[in-house]
Amino acid sequence: MRVLGIETSCDETAAALYDSERGLLAHAVHSQVDLHAAFGGVVPELASRDHVRRLIPIVRHVLGQAGAGRGDVEGVAYTAGPGLIGALLVGAAVARSLAWTWSVPSVAVHHMEAHLLAPMLEPSPPAFPFVALLVSGGHTQLVEVHGVGRYRMLGESLDDAAGEAFDKTAKLLGLGYPGGPALARLAEQGDPRRFTFPRPMTGRPGLDFSFSGLKTHVLHTLRATDGDAQTRADIARAFEDAVVDTVVIKCRRALAETGHRRLVIAGGVGANRRLREALVALGEEIAVAVHYPRPELCTDNAAMVAYAGCQRLVAGEHTPLAFLARPRWSLDSLPPAGGGATGL
Ligand code: KG4
Ligand code: ZN
Repeated sequence: MRVLGIETSCDETAAALYDSERGLLAHAVHSQVDLHAAFGGVVPELASRDHVRRLIPIVRHVLGQAGAGRGDVEGVAYTAGPGLIGALLVGAAVARSLAWTWSVPSVAVHHMEAHLLAPMLEPSPPAFPFVALLVSGGHTQLVEVHGVGRYRMLGESLDDAAGEAFDKTAKLLGLGYPGGPALARLAEQGDPRRFTFPRPMTGRPGLDFSFSGLKTHVLHTLRATDGDAQTRADIARAFEDAVVDTVVIKCRRALAETGHRRLVIAGGVGANRRLREALVALGEEIAVAVHYPRPELCTDNAAMVAYAGCQRLVAGEHTPLAFLARPRWSLDSLPPAGGGATGL
């Protein structure tokens, strides 16, 4: 089955064409970073308007790249949530209209399900079951995955998501939006021995996270020092080390508690080099296979949406006309693909 994927949940407009036999045929992402940079964060109304401008051209571009015509698309998958409601509605409306015009089924995709299935697009995809670490701008979750739509939440952030913590800390350090990659770059010049920040919620049992307190440590450290360029780099390094260590401790615990031998990393913060290296080292130490998508498929893209939608379409699902978008939508409320028993 050949599926067009559409992603517009936040500040990336993306389209992709995925074929269940041949794999990913084409994908393209337009980032709105320049549009929002002056405001220091995503402005929802500007995001929606830009999706309106960009989406049809990017769909056309992807179909052209794959040499596909309208008769070649057999289903349309779109991110229906969670995300910004206006942005989601643009993608949903375009996806539903294309599907209706082409007389093919359409399917609503959960953005985090798409993220956690992204490693399936790589040459050696993980087999089920596995533990997934989802680390994005909006979510930090550890999930036990038994199949498409068969999820059990093991733990999640009680406050800021990991990406959100990166972005807010970057702002405190005077770095522009988006802060995560900029903070990671600054941390490269930092001395890891100068400051040590706490590893939140690691001293007690459980798999939940809390990252908001780290901001306070960053703020206090900034106030207690002169905040010069080297100090800011040292703080960035201490912050990154604290997040990475915390995530590694919780992943180790999740793998020990569930007994699974595979770990999947997905979401924008999964593009962080130090985090990837630390989790690969953990995998080697405890003989667990670690899977992550290439960095461009960690951050928001439509290839993962086309893949996730394809799994559900192939299982016979399609989304009724009344369903458009859902800004809040919990991952563990999803039904298994095709409606089979979850067995969890
Ligand atoms: O998954 P994603 O593209 O969008 C959401 O679904 O939220 O994740 C975006 C988040 C942002 O907070 C961004 O700062 C963070 O991922 N991010 C990074 C890196 N690249 C992206 N954080 C740390 N290091 C990176 N290299
Ligand atoms: Zn995302």
